[in-house]
Amino acid sequence: MNQPAIEVNGLQKKFGKQIVLDGIDLAVQKGEIFALLGPNGAGKSTLINILSTLVAPDAGTARVNGFDIVSNKEEVKSSISLTGQFAAVDEMLTAEENLRMMGRLSGLSRLDSRSRAKELIEHFDLTNAARKRTKTYSGGMRRRLDLAASLVVHRPILFLDEPTTGLDTRSRRALWDIILHLANEGVTVFLTTQYLEEADKLADTIAVISKGRIVAHGTPEELKSRIGKEMVEFRDDNDEIIREIPTNGSIHEIKQILEEVAFATPEGTRISIRRPSLDDVFLSLTSEKERIL
Ligand SMILES: Nc1ncnc2c1ncn2[C@@H]1O[C@H](COP(=O)(O)OP(=O)(O)OP(=O)(O)O)[C@@H](O)[C@H]1O
Ligand SMILES: [Mg+2]
Repeated sequence: MNQPAIEVNGLQKKFGKQIVLDGIDLAVQKGEIFALLGPNGAGKSTLINILSTLVAPDAGTARVNGFDIVSNKEEVKSSISLTGQFAAVDEMLTAEENLRMMGRLSGLSRLDSRSRAKELIEHFDLTNAARKRTKTYSGGMRRRLDLAASLVVHRPILFLDEPTTGLDTRSRRALWDIILHLANEGVTVFLTTQYLEEADKLADTIAVISKGRIVAHGTPEELKSRIGKEMVEFRDDNDEIIREIPTNGSIHEIKQILEEVAFATPEGTRISIRRPSLDDVFLSLTSEKERIL
């Protein structure tokens, strides 16, 4: 079998006493779009920062483009592009200047930097603003420029940390198109997102991360079929959900569920039947709540 583009085994990271990554295993195949989906603080940026060699792991191993992220750092760096969670462009420069500077820093000639900047400005629909200082840009324009900046040189693997957070629907769609286009050209894309819809639209494979652990993994279809069922929901007298059981919705099955759990249900418990949305699934996978039943 082909070697994966990214391979992670037992990766761990602590900051002080806080365990931020608690044994991550995953593999991303060449040319696929992989989405790491998780809420604030789940460990998404930490994982991206480790895989892009900005942060060292405490334990475990990872290979990116076949290179070990600790012992072959330089080879990893020259295999990847990274668009971090926070803008990395110089606000006092124009888009054109930022992109040319990036080209020069990556070793392109003056001429090549100039033509690459021109190409990216057109591709990312920044032509009208190309000569304005980027501090005057809207969030969407900055994000497009950020992405353009990480594509000045062609690399086989692209890391995108929450590429569309804070963007309106139109800018988000435009970025999705760009990401899909890159993947079509054979780039392996590893992105993080808090939006299930985004993972669903873009990804070949999704891993859900919660509190430093991968809690679900599969194609969007696999995850949806796991969660696309109706649920019998049990709530306590504070209206908190204490248990959810998937059901096909038939009277027969619901009757069976009620008979099975009735004896273990506290006084005041109420039930309802609900068809979960994708967001519900995500929330239930990453919920802090302890299930008491
Ligand atoms: N350099 C650091 N020093 C100390 N703690 C850190 C550091 N970087 C991250 N953390 C902590 O690690 C946890 C995970 O952070 P991380 O940035 O990886 O989460 P995230 O999933 O990217 O969240 P978000 O969706 O908000 O970007 C958080 O509790 C954060 O406070
Ligand atoms: Mg983050």
